[in-house]
Amino acid sequence: MKVKITVLCENLVGRLVGSGEHGFSAFIETEGGNYLFDTGSGHSIVANSLALNKDLRTIRKIFLSHGHHDHTGGLPEVVKLKGEVDVHVHPNLFSDRIAVLKEDDKETKRFVGIPYKKAYLEFLGANFIFSKDFYEVERDIFLTGEVPRKTPFEKPDPRLFIEREGKTTQDILLDDQSLILNTKEGLVVIFGCAHSGMVNILNHVIQKTRKEKFYAIMGGTHLDFLTPEQLEESIKFLRKMEIKKIGVSHCTGMRAVFRLHQEFGDRFFYGYVGSVLEL
Ligand SMILES: [Fe+2]
Ligand SMILES: [Fe+2]
Repeated sequence: MKVKITVLCENLVGRLVGSGEHGFSAFIETEGGNYLFDTGSGHSIVANSLALNKDLRTIRKIFLSHGHHDHTGGLPEVVKLKGEVDVHVHPNLFSDRIAVLKEDDKETKRFVGIPYKKAYLEFLGANFIFSKDFYEVERDIFLTGEVPRKTPFEKPDPRLFIEREGKTTQDILLDDQSLILNTKEGLVVIFGCAHSGMVNILNHVIQKTRKEKFYAIMGGTHLDFLTPEQLEESIKFLRKMEIKKIGVSHCTGMRAVFRLHQEFGDRFFYGYVGSVLEL
């Protein structure tokens, strides 16, 4: 399978066109058709798709990595353009989610869940397909489904909570899933935020696909917000793997970006708005 992946929404801009935002989205072109992985927060997806010449009306399916606003907020704009479309998600997508953040020395509670109701999105044309499992969505395109949390060093983000029936508990983002493309050069894995832990995700991919050769891993990796141990242990793991290109975006965090670049040199790239991976 030939693939061209273009970063549509991302925190930073690397070309003369497009805008940055806190969010992530990737436009995927294959011989079998075009797909969208995540939709950003809603601020830039339509403008960036026009600036980068990616026609959102051509997508065959949408995949959402998890229910955070910065990956799902652009969904209404995309569905308004496309009309009826299948949207592949985990059943927990619509959970109410909260982040407790330290901002200007104050503790601030923010709603960070999907900002739209299911009924509204369905009215626009979204046809939700819910699954917790690993499965082949189209030939050579897979979703990881729920990822078992196995490594001792990949911990949930302590700032994230879920609200259910008046109770607030830690949000371990069970809905976090990644996309896998099976190409001749190896697997390509696209993370949303990698809330399950990058190493847990890659181990799950190896176990499910029985393949260990990766052409590229890319997307948000959430590596700079937890413990320094997590970053170093993840690097140790990546060193042992067969991965040709390591590209990160969005929630990776600058310290982790610099560290990964230092470690992997030419194999590393930053996935800005407009970055393209083609093979
Ligand atoms: Fe995110
Ligand atoms: Fe997230």
